[in-house]
Amino acid sequence: MQRIAPFRVMEILARAQQMQKAGKDVVHMEVGEPDFPAPQAINAAACAALERGQTHYTPALGITPLREAIGAYYRERFAVEVDPARVVVTPGASGALQLVLGVLVEAGDLVGIQDPGYPCNRHMIELYGGRTLGLPATGASTELWSAALATDGLRGIMLASPANPTGEVMPLEHLEALYQVLRAGQRYLIVDEIYQGLQYGAPPETALALGSDHLFVINSFSKFFGMTGYRIGWAVVPEQWVDPIERLAQNLFLAPPTLAQHAALHAFDDTVLAELEERRQIFEQRRDRLYAGLKALGFRLPDTPPSGAFYLYAGLPESYRGNGEAFCRELLEQAGVAVTPGIDFGHHQTADHVRFAYTTDIDRIELGLERISDFLEAGGP
Ligand SMILES: Cc1ncc(COP(=O)(O)O)c(C=O)c1O
Repeated sequence: MQRIAPFRVMEILARAQQMQKAGKDVVHMEVGEPDFPAPQAINAAACAALERGQTHYTPALGITPLREAIGAYYRERFAVEVDPARVVVTPGASGALQLVLGVLVEAGDLVGIQDPGYPCNRHMIELYGGRTLGLPATGASTELWSAALATDGLRGIMLASPANPTGEVMPLEHLEALYQVLRAGQRYLIVDEIYQGLQYGAPPETALALGSDHLFVINSFSKFFGMTGYRIGWAVVPEQWVDPIERLAQNLFLAPPTLAQHAALHAFDDTVLAELEERRQIFEQRRDRLYAGLKALGFRLPDTPPSGAFYLYAGLPESYRGNGEAFCRELLEQAGVAVTPGIDFGHHQTADHVRFAYTTDIDRIELGLERISDFLEAGGP
């Protein structure tokens, strides 16, 4: 437990809420969930399931119609065939990560992860007795990823694409190169596609196009589908791992949430997908506005805006480098803007960075930028 670090952002959030209670306005750019509610058709399906009395356990791997609907979604949207028998419905991507890491990681195993990356991954691997190898997560790091492949005791590599906090999408050909080397060494690739669908400039892809035997793909209804509080996600696992995963799921969760499964059945309705596409376009406009605004204020960002998720991971202007946590605290106290310190996401240059989530509307983003500008002019922390 001593190695399980708290989310610093939760302190920021708590303080922001306290300030709001005291009557101060806060622009929220710290929260990693869509500001949109779950689509109405999904909520109506949850209500209808409740009316029908669907409040009992389901099979541990989820209800068959949902596993089939997920398979059909891969066929229709990505032209990839996925046998529903390999689809495991879980309590969020979080549940999927627990199951996949639980069956794969033996005590002492090493798992390569992105640094900066989603912090829970490191903690979950350690909980199962594994060790992590943090790999700088930016585009320039291909050599480091290759070096990791030669490391003794490496069980696999786990990465998110699009990634949190960078929003970077790993091109399918890079993933394929990684997958082939891992597979040849009897190791595994775990790709967390939780931000799939929230992609800009090019249609989303899936690592499932690469193969099926040494590849675990994790996904969720939380982000693109806007269903964070339903706690529902899924994994697609190699055939020979379905049975161990089922046994672990029975022991850890018994079943994924029943109402959420019935609601998620409607997430792939054409009308819902059309609504989600409109939201995706709104996210893209917000990204472009925030990217331009932060660049103009001297934050260091990639040459082109990252093409996925709803985050910008920005290098702090020169005078605040190494001081990200203090920057976030002072920005909140003095300017009423909440953002997440980079140190929440790992060790690699994270004190020089902060994460901005564009999960608030464009007027609030404009206001946030104005406030940050005034804060920087006034001298900051
Ligand atoms: C990369 C990544 N994976 C997994 C999760 C867990 O999401 P959930 O359990 O809501 O599906 C998150 C949440 O922010 C995330 O950013």
